[in-house]
Amino acid sequence: MPEKEPRAKIGIVTVSDRASRGEYEDRGGPAIEKYLTEVLTSPWEKVTRVVPDEISVLKLTLEELCEDQNCCMIITTGGTGPSKRDITPEVTEKFCDKLLPGFGEMMRKISFEIVPTALLSRQTAGVKGNTFLINLPGQPKAIAECLDAVFAAIPYCIDLIDGPYLTTDEKRIKSFRPKKK
Ligand code: MTE
Repeated sequence: MPEKEPRAKIGIVTVSDRASRGEYEDRGGPAIEKYLTEVLTSPWEKVTRVVPDEISVLKLTLEELCEDQNCCMIITTGGTGPSKRDITPEVTEKFCDKLLPGFGEMMRKISFEIVPTALLSRQTAGVKGNTFLINLPGQPKAIAECLDAVFAAIPYCIDLIDGPYLTTDEKRIKSFRPKKK
């Protein structure tokens, strides 16, 4: 019998030269997985990738996760700052059909209350077809700081792009869906 509620696939992409070369343990990807495990109550499965800060590699990875893996959401970590090799927001912007700048604005606003260097992150979000994409900074502690600021709006965003119906543990994140008129 087919599953009533198919598992939502979520892409978790660590963008880091050093982690992709194995010089550095990937701590961002596991922090995203931990966050989703705590917050999501609907069935989901991860598709993880660790890639260098290379435009072409990241673009191919996003394509694969959207088109072949059919992820409803892709969360990236790393490469959002001002350094020469940081290219994640540019690739995300070019890749998306529509940008959702409110996510980056809100994550920076809330993060700035925690750390002044939050302003250095150019993190953004957007949609490509049926996939919602969001950038997080590379610092593992930034994962929950940023996602807590915006996660309430993500399930409804995924409804609007015809993705799966995500539910959250209300003790952790109370997701908001406007009442139907
Ligand atoms: N946002 C939160 N919530 N917490 C953080 O520790 N670190 C900042 C910023 N945003 C941080 C944060 C720092 S120090 C930098 S350089 C930028 O994210 C960019 O980080 P990235 O290049 O690793 O993506």
